[in-house]
Amino acid sequence: MSRKNLNIGLFGFGCVGLGLYEVLQKTPGLKATISNICVKDKEKKRAIGKENFTFDKNDILNDESINVVVELIDDADAAFEIVSAALKKGKAVVSANKKMIAQHFTELLELQKEYNVPLLYEAACCASMPIIRNLEEYYDNDLLESIEGIVNGSTNYILTKTFSENLSYDEALLQAQEKGFAESNPILDTGGFDAKYKLLILLAHSFGYVAKPKDIFNIGIDNIGELELKYAREKKLKIKLVAQAFKSETGNISAFVIPKFVTPDDRLYNVDDVFNGIITKTSFADTHFFVGRGAGSLPTASAVLSDISALSYDYRYEYKKIYREENVSLTNDAQLKVLLRHKKEDAHALKHYFDEVEESYNNHDSGYITGVISLKNLIAIHAGNTGDRSFILIDVEKEAAVEKAFALAE
Ligand SMILES: NC(=O)c1ccc[n+]([C@@H]2O[C@H](COP(=O)([O-])OP(=O)(O)OC[C@H]3O[C@@H](n4cnc5c(N)ncnc54)[C@H](OP(=O)(O)O)[C@@H]3O)[C@@H](O)[C@H]2O)c1
Repeated sequence: MSRKNLNIGLFGFGCVGLGLYEVLQKTPGLKATISNICVKDKEKKRAIGKENFTFDKNDILNDESINVVVELIDDADAAFEIVSAALKKGKAVVSANKKMIAQHFTELLELQKEYNVPLLYEAACCASMPIIRNLEEYYDNDLLESIEGIVNGSTNYILTKTFSENLSYDEALLQAQEKGFAESNPILDTGGFDAKYKLLILLAHSFGYVAKPKDIFNIGIDNIGELELKYAREKKLKIKLVAQAFKSETGNISAFVIPKFVTPDDRLYNVDDVFNGIITKTSFADTHFFVGRGAGSLPTASAVLSDISALSYDYRYEYKKIYREENVSLTNDAQLKVLLRHKKEDAHALKHYFDEVEESYNNHDSGYITGVISLKNLIAIHAGNTGDRSFILIDVEKEAAVEKAFALAE
């Protein structure tokens, strides 16, 4: 199969844009040339000559010789304008912007269909790790039961530094920002929003379910306190920000992002620093484990490059699982075993939200409860959170029950 010549209009020349420029120089086999780069700040010093840049998006969008738009900017609203305009003009698009894709998933599906052009976004989920194309292509014939993983590099970096080097949260966040791992707006990472956007995209490609961001519950790492850290250290656990989606017995799907205690025998335990890891579980193949760099200039650029290369062979997502239109919906009925840290005086009232209380501990001003609670009740308690409550997942009860049943049968 012969490869198409690609003439690229690039939006953004920051951490990933510059990375893409560099990796393209080292990939001469790919017939892809960046012919124009659109950026925002007219005063900024650039690593390459200013004749390469424009500040007017129409210089790219109206250029008929450009057949691929690569969107690598840090503004989701402006990105949607650029991407939708490019698709309407029949240009193939590559994007790394999970927020923009998650917020406009349905519109982007429609645009791809109506204008018969591809939009690829492997770098938007777990940067260098090739998860979307695997979910899209490989798992179509298999019965996927669950997907669980660390999908945000900067929070994983922060948590790793907190546990291994005893850095404070602020010091670790600053390091992540200096290394180019963190989003320009850190709350996107630390609040679990970035992980939620990625989970939304993963849900579409794994279970064919298109959610809205507001439908997926997320808790980040910005509220993790000393009590939970001490609990983890004493029990030789780590805390990881874990996104997960799994099918319930009714066939509906639970999906959420919640920090989780992981044990040394969990494959996510050794996924440290800026690495991401995803475990998929299927009915017949048991589990698969993907791991790779989840942020950074060149690793992210390598996923963008892979999409550009795929376009040269006319690859596109077919969204088979979405168009199959199975009637699934999201449910908040999952039973979760969690640790809830709370103000001492709230202990009594909060226990009533639990279906089962395993342990309850109080010190002079705060305390924690461990036990089983429905996701619905957890969301209800979290809604009134003013920073004095923190939830760490211990396990998903359904999975624990299934595993116990397997163990008994063996
Ligand atoms: N960094 C990572 O490790 C990573 C990993 C996976 C995905 N991503 C995604 O990749 C995208 C880019 O991230 P980044 O880290 O490269 O961001 P960045 O370093 O902050 O760079 C952003 C770039 O976008 C340009 N820009 C902003 N608004 C623009 C507009 N309206 N028109 C044209 N250019 C505009 C900026 O222009 P100026 O140079 O003029 O300021 C800058 O060059 C984001 O969607 C991010 O979520 C990043």
